[in-house]
Parts: sequence; C-alpha cells; structure tokens
Amino acid sequence: MKDCEMTAAEIMAEDKKYIMRTYGRLPVVLTEGKGCRVKDIDGKEYLDLVAGIAVNGLGHCPEVVVKAIKEQAETLMHTSNLYYTLPQIKLAKLLVEISGMTKAFFCNSGAEANEAAMKLARKATKVAGHPEKTVIITAEKSFHGRTLAAITATGQPKYQKMFTPLPPDYKYVPFNDVEALKAAVDEKTCAVMLEPVQGESGVHPGTAEYFKTARELCDKFGCALIFDEVQTGLGRTGKLFGFENFGVKPDIMSLAKTLAGGFPMGAMLAAGKYAEVFEPGDHASTFGGNPLAAAAAFATVSEIAKPGFMDEVTKKGDYFRAELAKTEGVKEARGLGFMIGIELEKPDARAYAEEFLNKGFIVNPIGDSIIRLVPPLILSKAEIDEFVGAAKNIIK
Ligand SMILES: Cc1ncc(COP(=O)(O)O)c(C=O)c1O
Repeated sequence: MKDCEMTAAEIMAEDKKYIMRTYGRLPVVLTEGKGCRVKDIDGKEYLDLVAGIAVNGLGHCPEVVVKAIKEQAETLMHTSNLYYTLPQIKLAKLLVEISGMTKAFFCNSGAEANEAAMKLARKATKVAGHPEKTVIITAEKSFHGRTLAAITATGQPKYQKMFTPLPPDYKYVPFNDVEALKAAVDEKTCAVMLEPVQGESGVHPGTAEYFKTARELCDKFGCALIFDEVQTGLGRTGKLFGFENFGVKPDIMSLAKTLAGGFPMGAMLAAGKYAEVFEPGDHASTFGGNPLAAAAAFATVSEIAKPGFMDEVTKKGDYFRAELAKTEGVKEARGLGFMIGIELEKPDARAYAEEFLNKGFIVNPIGDSIIRLVPPLILSKAEIDEFVGAAKNIIK
C-alpha cells in the first residue's frame, strides 16, 4: 500500500469541512485500484462490482489507458478546439466506424452529452423550418444527468422539485408503454429521448417493440430519436452500443462513463442530416475532446472494440445473472451484459450493501429492494463465482 499523509478519520473530517454535501459517501477512503479490485487506505481489498458507476470498463488503471495518458501527457495535454488535434480525429473516426453514426461532438460528461443532444435536436427542427416543434419527450424514471436541462429531461420529480422553474416543453411518458408513446408524439415533438436500459432507477431494459415504435413515430413526425447511451454505451450491455440489442438506430446518441476508461469525457454522436446541423458558434466546450481525454478514450474504445471482447461480456453477463437468480433471497436478476439489477425479496438493499462492503465487495443499492451491479467488463468467471458465493451468505 502507498503511504498516505492522513488517516481515514482525518480525511473524512476534512471532507465534511471543505466539500459540499452533495454525496452520501460510504465510510471508506479508496486509495488504489488494479483490475477489478480496489484498496482502501488501511489496505483492505474490495472486489469492485460498481466500477465508478459503470465507468471503469477496463478495470482500474488499465495498462493500455495508463500508457496512452502518460504518453499524451508528455506530448500535449490541452489546446483549444480552435485548432486541429490528432487524438480527437482518431477517436471520432473510431467511434463513427463502430457505431454507424456520422459525426461526433466531444464534451466532458454524460449530462453535457445530453445537453448537446437536446440542443442539436432543437436546432434541427428550426433548420427544417419547423420552429413549432419544441417538445422533448422522455420517460418516467429515466435519468439523464444533473444540469438544469438534464434534470428536466430526467423523469423523476425528486431531482427537479428544489430547482424550479425548469426549462419548458418537456413531456414524460411511462417507460415501455407503446400506447402512451403513440398518444404523446405529435407535430409539436422535437425529440424523443430514451435510455436503452434505464440504469439509475434500477436496471430496467426497454423492449424492442417500444424502441421500434419510438423509431416509427420519430420518422412519421419528423423528430429526432435520441438514445442516452451514457451508461449502456461501449460494451456495458454485451453489445458495443445498447441500441444494437433492439435493432433500432437513433439519430443522436450520448456517451460518457466508460468512454475514456476512467478519464472524464463525454461525446454526442449524430447520424445523417443531424450531423450537419451545428455550425461554428452553436455549441462548444473548452475541454471537450482535448488531446489527453481523447487519447485515453481512443485506447479504451480500441480495446473494447476488439473482436471477441463483446462475446465475453455477453457470456459472462448471462452466467452472472443466471447464478444470481438461483440465489436464495433474490426475486429477480435482470439486465443485459454487465448491467445487472438484483431485485431482492426483502427490502434490505442498504443493509445488504453495507454487509457486502464489510466482506470486501462494492455494490450499489437502489431504493430499498434493488442492488445494481455494473462491474468492469473484464470481470472474470472466478470473480463472479467469488461474489455469488458471498451473496449466497449475505442476501439470505
Ligand atoms: C443514462 C445516464 N445519463 C446521463 C448520466 C449523467 O452522466 P454524468 O454524471 O457524467 O453527467 C448518467 C449518470 O449516471 C446516466 O446513467
């Protein structure tokens, strides 16, 4: 373990004094990580089934990403987007090639990627001569981030109520309800924005029928289909992009989380005519796609896009969910790939999560009855077995 100049108690006290209380932190100070494991300040090791909430797709400190960051940091870390840089164009080309989208815009987080997506959709309607098309439809229980527009898009009043007034012209529909979607989309609709699998509210996959209906409605009414792939994108669901599970391609897609293997980065990809809508001055980000972030992302995405990588995630994800489903006290183990929601028989998610932590496993409780697992995509079968073994004792 590396030396640390403060104890856990001292760090927690200073945190309380100097950092705003926006997070309900668990009483653990993490200091290092490798692969699927992290260590706390006292040297205790944990198997990390949360991976920075679906960020550390290649595990902690993956060699290819560390190397890319080191090399780029010694060459050119940052320059303005007023100039061309090689890492950014290499990344954009790679993302376009693997997604079938047309062009990319780079930013620094998922919320920013969604902001860019919504701005793009709004401008697209105006460019098309339809300024009356302003309404953005999203799903109840969705999660799209924490900026003012992103909490407005997020169909959960608890994230909105203290921050009103909200930007106007958002409408919410129950997720996976085909008829409700048909009733909601009309001439005023600018965009329909959906997560392929709702993550934050407890891992609820959409259905192919629902997304196909959304695609048809957007085509019929000339509005944009936006997929928020911030959590589902880049391998999480066992496909490179969540939309591939449903055979429905969006017009606009947001990415972040796994994108740069732990380095902060977001992207918005657009297809066809949507790729040509933004002009200089319409949208920007000082840091978006800077050489350091782009190099980290290029290394990460290159690894995830290697032949066979996705097959492994699918295979291991299926095995993981099947093993969990057999566990006493588990009502359901749902999800796709390594995006897993464990629905518990008893509403004790928080108590179980604490016990998992005591036993050296990091999991993410959602509400009273769900535990979310979004582990590194490189989690091995032996590590899955280790967790399932512990779950058998803890959950029952
Ligand atoms: C689907 C989805 N969209 C957007 C976000 C927001 O991303 P960020 O926290 O990087 O702004 C998240 C974060 O959890 C998410 O899961």
